Amino acid sequence: AVTLANVPKHIDHFSKFSPSPLSMKQFLDFGSTNACERTSFAFLRQELPVRLSNIMKEINLLPDRLLATSSVQLLQTWYIQSLMEILEFLHKDPEDQRVLEMFVEVLEAIRNRHNEVVPTMAQGIIEYKDAFGQQDAVTDHNIQYFLDRFYTSRISIRMLINQHTLVFNGNTNPAHPNTIGCIDSMCDVTEVARDAYESAKLLCEQYYLGAPELELRQTNANNIREPIQISYIPSHLYHMLFELFKNAMRATIENHEASRTLPPIKVMIALGGEDLSIKMSDRGGGVPFRKTERLFSYMYSTAPRPSIGDKHRAPLAGFGYGLPISRLYARYFQGDLQLYSMEGYGTDAVIHLKALSTDSVERLPVFNKSALRHYKLSLEADDWCIPSKEPLDLAVYRAAK
Ligand SMILES: Nc1ncnc2c1ncn2[C@@H]1O[C@H](COP(=O)(O)OP(=O)(O)O)[C@@H](O)[C@H]1O
Ligand SMILES: [Mg+2]
Repeated sequence: AVTLANVPKHIDHFSKFSPSPLSMKQFLDFGSTNACERTSFAFLRQELPVRLSNIMKEINLLPDRLLATSSVQLLQTWYIQSLMEILEFLHKDPEDQRVLEMFVEVLEAIRNRHNEVVPTMAQGIIEYKDAFGQQDAVTDHNIQYFLDRFYTSRISIRMLINQHTLVFNGNTNPAHPNTIGCIDSMCDVTEVARDAYESAKLLCEQYYLGAPELELRQTNANNIREPIQISYIPSHLYHMLFELFKNAMRATIENHEASRTLPPIKVMIALGGEDLSIKMSDRGGGVPFRKTERLFSYMYSTAPRPSIGDKHRAPLAGFGYGLPISRLYARYFQGDLQLYSMEGYGTDAVIHLKALSTDSVERLPVFNKSALRHYKLSLEADDWCIPSKEPLDLAVYRAAK
């Protein structure tokens, strides 16, 4: 039997396996008409413990003072509980229909248990920052490295759970005949962009009593007359675009408080042979180049902190996780999200996705020696000179040399 005492042994065992990345095409085939619940079950009862154990190994490498926060402690109990629940299925018979039904129920319970992982982890970081203040660059780097991997792992685990539970709960979605689980094989990118704009606009109008207009253009290089459609997860795309719209709106309005008109947000969508790219341009005044990397940091946000569990106020800006998490969604299927800002003018945010379902393959963290090395980095002297703050007295300098 699986007990709390032998969980570490199981983690050691399963973390020796590398996760198996799936392509969008494999996800679609898995859920198509010849879908076999037993095959999916057999895959998941191995793959989920592998993905969980790989990331649990890394959680244990966090700085002790972060590990010790109540938020991170709570989070760890969720991971252990979920791992134990899945391990119970290792010796169950896939031919038994009741086993398969129980498995779906357990997966749904696990998904719910982990709903609040992101705000809980964010809370842990805040506790840690408040208690110990500004950390050194190496610690910041390690936490950033860890969180990118941790949240990617979570996105991927939820993807697996969603596919299995949606495909095998027996209901088809008549409104979306092209969806298999949460993947739409004909995801209409323009439609998702308009939806995301409208939701962000509603929020923005609540806050600022106005919102910039949307100017949307598109080009399909493969066929000018065809709409732009790719195999993708509409909810992931929506998440990214919604975050970018909120940022663009906030910047536009705060940069035009004095003027009566707001410049529109311009979106360009282009489909080529390899890439589907979406560029969102605002005239919100931009960010200094020096700070653009920081915008993707989990340790940094310019917005006031929203309080946890405040459900009445859906804020236009939050924990400062909008950009970093959106970039993870883009990278999860081999895409990316980049920001090009011109301080004094505005910002272009660009999402690149793979146009072909065979190119869209999960990008997953694996716990191995090179990952371990990242956590063992120590503070070393910079190998580039640090510019001196004092004006240099050349005469003295020459004498000293
Ligand atoms: N389009 C933009 N124009 C100007 N600043 C931006 C833009 N997008 C993001 N930023 C800056 O980056 C920060 C981080 O953005 P984000 O990750 O979405 O977190 P949040 O919006 O919760 O602060 C914002 O607080 C803002 O200062
Ligand atoms: Mg934001």
